[in-house]
Amino acid sequence: MATVKLTIDGQSIECSAGRTIIEAADAAGIYIPRICHHPDLSPVSEVTRADVVYQAETRIVGENRGANIGKEAHCNLCLVEIEGQPELVNSCITLVDDELIVQTDTKEVIRRRKEALSKLLADHPHACLTCDQREGCSRTDCSANVPVEERCCVLLGRCELGKVSEYIGIPNDTHRYIPQQLTSTENDPLFTRDYNLCIGCLRCIRVCRKVQGLDVLGAIWKNNRAWVGTLTGAGLKEAQCRFCGACVEVCPTGALLDKEGVPAVRRDSPLPCVANCPAGIDIPGYVRSIAAGRNRVALDIIRSRVPFPGILGYVCFHPCEDVCRRSEIDQPVAICDLKRYVADAVVNADSRPINRKSDTGKKVAIIGSGPTGLTAAYYLGSLGNQVSLFDQEHRPGGMLRYGIPDYRLPPEILDGELGVLDTLGISLHMDHRFDSENRISELKSQGFDALLVTIGASVSKALPIENSDLDGVYLGLEFLKSAKLSQELLLGDQVVVIGGGNVAVDAAMTAIRLGARFVHLVCLESRDEMPAYSWEIAQAEEEGVEIHPSWGPRKFTSSRGRISGIELKRCTRVFDEQGDFDPQYDESEIKHISAQSVIVTIGQQVDLEPLNHVKNLSRGPGAALNVDKDFSFGLEGVFAAGDMIRGPSSVVEAIADGRRVADIIDRYIGGNGLADSDQTSAEIDIPTADVSRDQFLQHRQQCRSADPEERKSGFGLIQQTLSEQEAMLEAQRCLQCHLRRQITPVVLPPERWLPLNEEAMDSVPDVEGVFQLLNDEKRIIRITGTPNMRQDLRSWLENPGNAKWFLWEEDPMYTKRESELIQQYLQEHGELPGGGGSDDDLDDLF
Ligand code: SF4
Ligand code: SF4
Ligand code: SF4
Ligand code: FES
Repeated sequence: MATVKLTIDGQSIECSAGRTIIEAADAAGIYIPRICHHPDLSPVSEVTRADVVYQAETRIVGENRGANIGKEAHCNLCLVEIEGQPELVNSCITLVDDELIVQTDTKEVIRRRKEALSKLLADHPHACLTCDQREGCSRTDCSANVPVEERCCVLLGRCELGKVSEYIGIPNDTHRYIPQQLTSTENDPLFTRDYNLCIGCLRCIRVCRKVQGLDVLGAIWKNNRAWVGTLTGAGLKEAQCRFCGACVEVCPTGALLDKEGVPAVRRDSPLPCVANCPAGIDIPGYVRSIAAGRNRVALDIIRSRVPFPGILGYVCFHPCEDVCRRSEIDQPVAICDLKRYVADAVVNADSRPINRKSDTGKKVAIIGSGPTGLTAAYYLGSLGNQVSLFDQEHRPGGMLRYGIPDYRLPPEILDGELGVLDTLGISLHMDHRFDSENRISELKSQGFDALLVTIGASVSKALPIENSDLDGVYLGLEFLKSAKLSQELLLGDQVVVIGGGNVAVDAAMTAIRLGARFVHLVCLESRDEMPAYSWEIAQAEEEGVEIHPSWGPRKFTSSRGRISGIELKRCTRVFDEQGDFDPQYDESEIKHISAQSVIVTIGQQVDLEPLNHVKNLSRGPGAALNVDKDFSFGLEGVFAAGDMIRGPSSVVEAIADGRRVADIIDRYIGGNGLADSDQTSAEIDIPTADVSRDQFLQHRQQCRSADPEERKSGFGLIQQTLSEQEAMLEAQRCLQCHLRRQITPVVLPPERWLPLNEEAMDSVPDVEGVFQLLNDEKRIIRITGTPNMRQDLRSWLENPGNAKWFLWEEDPMYTKRESELIQQYLQEHGELPGGGGSDDDLDDLF
């Protein structure tokens, strides 16, 4: 593309033809104020005037309908002077040209800019912007007695209009804002609209059209200003809004605001659903791919983070759905069911081989083939390493195979997904137990470059009460394993299961399938405290399991050497004030349940026998092995991960651990780890599905469940997979919250940060004040008030840690000022500078 040369504020600039002056200035680091301009959007003057808009219930009819809004809507903050031209020009729409000489800060430019700002603020509450006490203001009481409707919004201190106003300087003759009592509504999901704060920049209208291709919002022209609202209906739902939040993202005032208490989308952290997924899967990426019918792409996105999407689709407890923003409209997106759908659809229909990098010549042994070991094997294998997987059981899978009943995870799904191990050339060594004789560490001498121990937490805890060794008393995991192996179990008609977790629920449901007619589940916890997943408890109850919450075992009763029942005492409290397990009982309230069998499922612990020969092992709660951050524990080249280092956890957490440790081991043996392996939707061109309003407003698609009476007779699957049509409808419900993060950030007025170096120190006076330190991404990591700024900053210069920039301000009341700035930071970020939140950080800072 042709380039042009121009001068802005005396600086020679070369840039491509076709750009605007403001773009050229931005690229050269010269700031020109702006409000209606946004780097991703067409000019405001191109918006077409609507006939009518709705601000909630208020219908507003416009003047001169159908025409473009025109230059009247320009904010005019971006005016600049071009040498030789009589009139100032809008730098956001004026193209660069050869030999242009532009001035951004002449007296006339500044005068007109201030005039334009005054005009904007005349229609916008702004008393707080000029208040001396604005920084650190609590926002609850106003000591200046300014009426609420004249004060600024909750964005004070971080709103774009406020920052631009501060940069330009609000003229003293700016009219006091006269409240207009316009519509303010909280009736829509996810965000609020307050038209008293709207300055008519029309970014919201333009971004909606650009990002969603929709005309949810529009503007009319009336009384010499733009009025924004929905084009149809009173609420956003009626107006076809997809609640992506793009308009909130670009709104320079608080007119459109995310509601408090809703999982927030922040530019510098993952989306709520992704952040809550232990494996960090790009959820909107795969959901969008499914909505667009691109199942293979969806599967690739999932596989870059979890190798066994099918398994996870069947058994994940989907914490992502707990924070899905769609819940604010109706119900969360069925993220987990969609994963299962796509795994079933693609794995069954397409057996494309897994990519494996070229052979590294490195050998890794993995001991334990549960979800952590399998995941590590998958990723280490795909990185080109030779992986040998050892397990004491006859078949791989660990808890997946022996601890999860077939009605949740059918064996054919497990075996189908484990087929990938063959493709990656992973060698399996089953029925291989390590102990003090057959030592894990001896594998090192067999040519392995690294060892990973992932032996889980699979030893059931026994109940330390009288008669617990009677015939008819089973331990949870051993019971589930025997049932899986079709061993004969004579349970009798009446069975009691002790425990409130998922293993307890599965033991109860398995007992029913093995012929028990009356199954009682007894747990210390109250119903609400039970750790089992609510949907699994509901399934058990559908099948007739009777739950007895807040009861603890007192003793087993016996008859002729066999269990005959259990005596229970009332449990009055399970956890103490600190949340530690400390059950308390009322021994005066006792009951007895008759039973021919009792299954004890009160938790699992780690069996470290295979590592007993290793000296000085450090053990934590539940006998878990303590490891360093890099999963090592003192033996060179040996790592440990999964449940054995933190106690029983979910499958997805175990899988996430497997990926992390694979990355570390690959680097340890000389590879580059998994850094480049993430496949995200950002790199893939996925068309946005064409979704009608009715499709978007569909309620969550439910997987069909087998009839409780029918399913009790066998181990067949309880829940069916979504059909293709259901999955596409479900995927189309996603709000695509990532869209707003793809919007280019606006250029804000320059900050006054200085590099943390010797030269900059000279500008710092030897007096009281407050300084802020920033890291290389210009994120504040510390705010400190001090009696001597230069002295304190010098000590930081000697030992800067990750501080790269700083800002100082003189203030004899430095403690107060420090608190104000921290308060401001907390309001903006919801955490302390540097991501701190612990008591230590607070002590340090306050
Ligand atoms: S949330 Fe998205 S779809 Fe709704 S009005 Fe804003 S930009 Fe348009
Ligand atoms: S609602 Fe916000 S983005 Fe939309 S016109 Fe008003 S100020 Fe601009
Ligand atoms: S709506 Fe979609 S992107 Fe937003 S939180 Fe839910 S799944 Fe994630
Ligand atoms: S930024 Fe150019 S007219 Fe508003």
